[in-house]
Amino acid sequence: MDYQLDLDWDDFLNRYWQKRPVVLKNVIKNFIDPISPDELAGLAMESEVDSRLVSQPNGHWQASNGPFESYDHLGEKGWSLLVQAVNHWHAPSAALVRPFRKLPDWRLDDLMISFSVPGGGVGPHIDQYDVFIIQGMGSRRWRVGDKKPLKQYCPHPALLHVEPFDPIIDEDLEPGDILYIPPGFPHDGYTHETALNYSVGYRGPNSRDLISNFADYVLEHDLGGEHYSDPDLKLREHPAVVENYELERLRGMMINLINQPEDFNQWFGRFVTTSRHELDIAPAEPAYRSDEIYDSLVQGESLIRLSGLRVLRVGDLCFANGELIDTPHLEAADALCRYPLISQKELGDALEDPAFVAVLAHLVNSGYWYFNDY
Ligand code: SIN
Ligand code: CO
Repeated sequence: MDYQLDLDWDDFLNRYWQKRPVVLKNVIKNFIDPISPDELAGLAMESEVDSRLVSQPNGHWQASNGPFESYDHLGEKGWSLLVQAVNHWHAPSAALVRPFRKLPDWRLDDLMISFSVPGGGVGPHIDQYDVFIIQGMGSRRWRVGDKKPLKQYCPHPALLHVEPFDPIIDEDLEPGDILYIPPGFPHDGYTHETALNYSVGYRGPNSRDLISNFADYVLEHDLGGEHYSDPDLKLREHPAVVENYELERLRGMMINLINQPEDFNQWFGRFVTTSRHELDIAPAEPAYRSDEIYDSLVQGESLIRLSGLRVLRVGDLCFANGELIDTPHLEAADALCRYPLISQKELGDALEDPAFVAVLAHLVNSGYWYFNDY
C-alpha cells in the first residue's frame, strides 16, 4: 500500500514544524489500517518488541511493559496497548512512514502504534518528540494545550502526567486525519470508539547524549591524548586559584576535539545511524560470496533495505546501522542511503570494483539488505 499525504509541506514547515500543533484534516484519503488489532497484540507478545499496556481499572492508573502473554484480563473499557518501532517489524506499517521522507531521515525515531478501547488513553502528558498522530480505525478526541510550564506528577511509577490544561486544540479525529504536536505541548487522547493510532515520531538528540556518546568515541579511538601545557606560566599571588585564562584554555582543548570535522563526522555518522529500537536482523545464512551478490544484481535482482535500518550520509561518508560504509564510491554509497530498493542501475560502475562488492556482501551478510526473492 502506498500512502499519499495531501499536504503542502513548505507551508507546514513554515507555519507549524517545531512551532505549534495543528490538526491536518483528511490528509490521507481513504485511509486503510496497515495492521489489525490482533497483529499488533501479537507483536506485543514478542520479547524483542517494546510495548506497554496502560489502563485505569476503577479509576487508578496502571502501566506495565511487554512482552505480554495474554490480554484476557482486560475488559472492554479504559485501556490502551502501545507498541514501539512497529516499522521495524511489520512491512505494511512501515509504508506509513514513507510519505514523511519530506522530512530528513536522520530526525525520524520510529512508528509507534496504539490500540485503545473506549475510555482508553495514556493520560495527559508532554513528549520531547515531534509527533504526527495519524488516526486509523475508530475515533478519538484529542486535546492539546499551549506550551507553558505545567506541574508534572506520576500517577503510577511508569507514567508521567501533567496537571489539567486549557486546550488550544480540542477535536475528534477521524480515519485519515493527522494531529501534529511539537515537543513540549501537553496533550491527551480520549477514545470514543475502539481505535488505532499511528505516531510517527521525530526526536532531536540532546547535548547530554551527544557529549556522552562522543566521549565513548574519543576513548575507543584514543583521541585527545595531548595534555594541557603552559610554557608561558607566570608567578601568581594565589596558588589555589584556577585563573580565567586557564579555564578558557581548558575549554578550548575540549572544543578543539569536537571541532575536528573529520572525527566529528566519523563519530556522528555512527551515532546517528545507531537505532534506538531493536531491528528484525537476520544475518544471511549461509553467507553470500561476493561473486554471488555481483551475479544476482547483474541478472536484474534488487536489494531491499531492512525496515527501520538507519542509512545516512554525513558529509562525504555513508553509514549504515552504526558502521561506516567503507568505500570511495560515494555515488553508490549515496544511493544506498537514498533508496530503500537498490539495483544494478543505482550502483553504477561501483559494481565493477570487487572491493565495493565485498563491502556490499558484508552489508547483505549482516542482514542489513536482502534480495527480494526470499
Ligand atoms: C496514543 O496513541 O495513545 C499516544 C500517543 C501520544 O500521546 O504520544
Ligand atoms: Co504523547
